Amino acid sequence: MTDDARMTAVNAASGRLAELTGDVVPSALVVLGSGLSGVVDAMEVSGELPFGELPGFAASAVAGHTGTFVFGHMGATPVLVMMGRLHLYEGHPVDQVVLPVRAAAVLGCKVLIVTNAAGGITADLHVGQTMLIADHINLLGVNPLTGSNLDALGTRFPPMAGAYSARINMLAVAAAEELGMDLAEGVYAAVPGPNYETAAEVRALRTLGADAVGMSTVPEVIAGVHAGMEVAGFSLIANVAADVGHGHADVLAAVGSGTPLLTSLLAAILGRL
Ligand code: HPA
Repeated sequence: MTDDARMTAVNAASGRLAELTGDVVPSALVVLGSGLSGVVDAMEVSGELPFGELPGFAASAVAGHTGTFVFGHMGATPVLVMMGRLHLYEGHPVDQVVLPVRAAAVLGCKVLIVTNAAGGITADLHVGQTMLIADHINLLGVNPLTGSNLDALGTRFPPMAGAYSARINMLAVAAAEELGMDLAEGVYAAVPGPNYETAAEVRALRTLGADAVGMSTVPEVIAGVHAGMEVAGFSLIANVAADVGHGHADVLAAVGSGTPLLTSLLAAILGRL
């Protein structure tokens, strides 16, 4: 795709999202990962759009990912939510994976909040616990900024140190304390998947400085930072990484148990943006 075509796709998607939001600029785009769709239950929903109906996007085929854009309010805050996301391991090109982030940025959305299910690497993370993503390590082997720079969105060499907003992280820590929530903080490593890691890979990731590992999120964060968005991320620890015998169903079940607290946390943060 030429740069013009890439930007035209972003603008077309943004135009369709504007129809969904009725030209209200959402305060945040919230991406809900595997099994986390319950967050939408805490919202006053005013409109929905299946992924497949966003120009340039595609339906998601992963169990636990419903694949719908939802616009509504969390308290007084207008929010655009993605129930699910597209993953690189599904074979989608990275430009498509990050299309909604870029479209939301063009729409004027200033905050990106990403969530995922992840495997815990650090021993003190327990299943069902939420980890605030303090930083990430991109081991995906792809980057949404590859190719000519989309100057309309951001600069060629954006800094990625400080990608995760200190301001929103402080809101999160304060809200977690009020909720009596044991919020961890750590480094998320993104790997391509879709297989879970070997024991040796988990040891290697630990040596690299990763606290949790997953197969998503980092492309959206990079595209969001590039487009000037303020970013925060949360991993719900679904399993101990490299524990033999866990599968996607166990991940969804474990995430389900942690969803109520993460929902309350997101609601509190969104209300204070
Ligand atoms: N590894 C990678 N991705 C994951 C895991 C894991 O253990 N659990 C949930 N997503």
